[in-house]
Amino acid sequence: MGIRYVSAATLAETGAPVDAVPEKSRPPLPVLEDVRPASKPLVSSPIVDGAKPQWLTASPDTLRAMELLAFDRDICECQNCPLGKTRKNFVFGTGNPEAEILFVGEAPGADEDAQGLPFVGRAGQLLTKIIESTKTWKRGDVFICNVLKCRPPGNRTPLPEEVEQCRPYLEEQINIIKPKLIMALGASAAQALLKTKDSVGKLRNKWHDYAGIPLRVTYHPAALLRFDGYKKDVWEDMKELTAKYTDLKGK
Ligand code: URA
Repeated sequence: MGIRYVSAATLAETGAPVDAVPEKSRPPLPVLEDVRPASKPLVSSPIVDGAKPQWLTASPDTLRAMELLAFDRDICECQNCPLGKTRKNFVFGTGNPEAEILFVGEAPGADEDAQGLPFVGRAGQLLTKIIESTKTWKRGDVFICNVLKCRPPGNRTPLPEEVEQCRPYLEEQINIIKPKLIMALGASAAQALLKTKDSVGKLRNKWHDYAGIPLRVTYHPAALLRFDGYKKDVWEDMKELTAKYTDLKGK
């Protein structure tokens, strides 16, 4: 099968909402336009400046990694909403592009904004513990991102118009990663992904469908830090997630 190099912008034209994003000063990434299995290592690497980004926890040499790297590069200077002016860093996400599990949170907080990585503050450390307590995944095995890629000032709840501006970025990340399962962390993530106004309490304890991907809802780790009583529920939700994963793997 032939391989043709196309620019990241060309790749993005097939679905990524990049119209209003200015070109980056870094040289464009080579991106493979090919339909080989995404997990198969490729011969060339997209790392042109010798350093892989901090958010990538796995090899950059897969089609999915290349697509995610190109997508990050295309959108990371976004100014589509006012949060672009107040952020320190655009927070794309972190993890393994080959991840089978995607965790989606609300928006970067102060620590995430400072480091350019999601879930690195207190709630993030708790999320790592929650993920690793399953004994099924390490943090670096999964992919973690937020509905909003930029920090709302003062950590306020994302505005509906911010969610709508940022939604295509999350949708494209899901489209590239193609996780087997999604865990929505808290109301903002659940409501954005499921296009509902229902509460976490109402959305928990059942499987939902996001574009054919089974989706579960649990409490946000920050809520857990405030109210210990949610611990048991989150543990139950993680047990459901791992059971479903085991079930899917067995098929
Ligand atoms: N809360 C979130 O929803 N996301 C983060 O990245 C950090 C805290």
